Amino acid sequence: MGERVRAFAPGRVNLIGDHTDYAGGLALPMAIQLGTTVEGHRTDAAAGIRLTSADQPDPVVLPVDVADPAAVAPPWGRYVAGVVHELRPVHGFEGAVTSTLPIGSGLSSSASLELAVALALGFAGSPRELAELGQRAEQVASGVPCGIMDQLASACGEAGRALLVDFTTMAVEPVPVPDHIEIVVVHSGQPRELAGSAYGERRASCEAAAALIGPLHDATLEDAESIADPRLAARARHVVTENARVRAFAAALTAGDLAAAGAAMYESHASLAVDFEVSTPVLDALVERLRATPGVHGARLTGAGFGGCVVALTDPGALREGWVVHASAGARLGD
Ligand code: GLA
Repeated sequence: MGERVRAFAPGRVNLIGDHTDYAGGLALPMAIQLGTTVEGHRTDAAAGIRLTSADQPDPVVLPVDVADPAAVAPPWGRYVAGVVHELRPVHGFEGAVTSTLPIGSGLSSSASLELAVALALGFAGSPRELAELGQRAEQVASGVPCGIMDQLASACGEAGRALLVDFTTMAVEPVPVPDHIEIVVVHSGQPRELAGSAYGERRASCEAAAALIGPLHDATLEDAESIADPRLAARARHVVTENARVRAFAAALTAGDLAAAGAAMYESHASLAVDFEVSTPVLDALVERLRATPGVHGARLTGAGFGGCVVALTDPGALREGWVVHASAGARLGD
């Protein structure tokens, strides 16, 4: 029997900066304490990959030269197959997957599965290369042209720090999260819908806008508003203003100015709802309910939208619902 291996990769929550990563903009995600563990041993390549999951009835059984990850059954195996397809491991692997991420939570369970599998199967490279591999795996597995935020946050996480990411330069700057606040993720109860097709459409709009006014990373509000097509102008306006809000939020967090940080979160939600049209009435109502709750400084949808979760910045103990998350270390082998 081969070497025993244990790999862990965290989920993530994005504090601010959504639908900016694939447009070369800014975001402020953080890895969290919850994530996915892959444990097992390496085998001969000829034995292939065999993984069971504590949360899924059917195991994943694949050859190391899997050809079409998107066609793999059961569906959770597509993410494993995506990693195998991109990594081309020289060993087989037999083991088990366990997760502390609440199922369907929108806390990037797929990115954390991808990175934990890649490390377990022998990936050797930098955290950024790990994230790039995970992003490619996600794209071939799901067919969704996702950005790299989720995988980058999981790969590069740091205890006590969120990550200010510039997706044009790929610079990652740690931003300390103050001790005297709580970050709470609340599920809207609405499963994410339309995520695939609408996501691709939003990404294409950002690319069309950039073809007209140049990279959205450097565009101004005036540039965005010079676009004749009102829908395209609104998409570009979201990215341009969201980039500014990410910087404002990071500065406010560093200064301990919770009112300013919270205001940026509410503005981000409004921009995602009105200009980018990725919110839903259920998410809007949840943000409004949280806004009216004492001790809540800010709240916004987090991630792709179309359902899923809201993230809130609160005084400790202000909310009696959701998951309190802590900025945590990134994907790693051995614990
Ligand atoms: C999903 C994608 C990310 C990012 C967010 C929206 O989580 O996987 O790359 O685009 O949506 O910010």
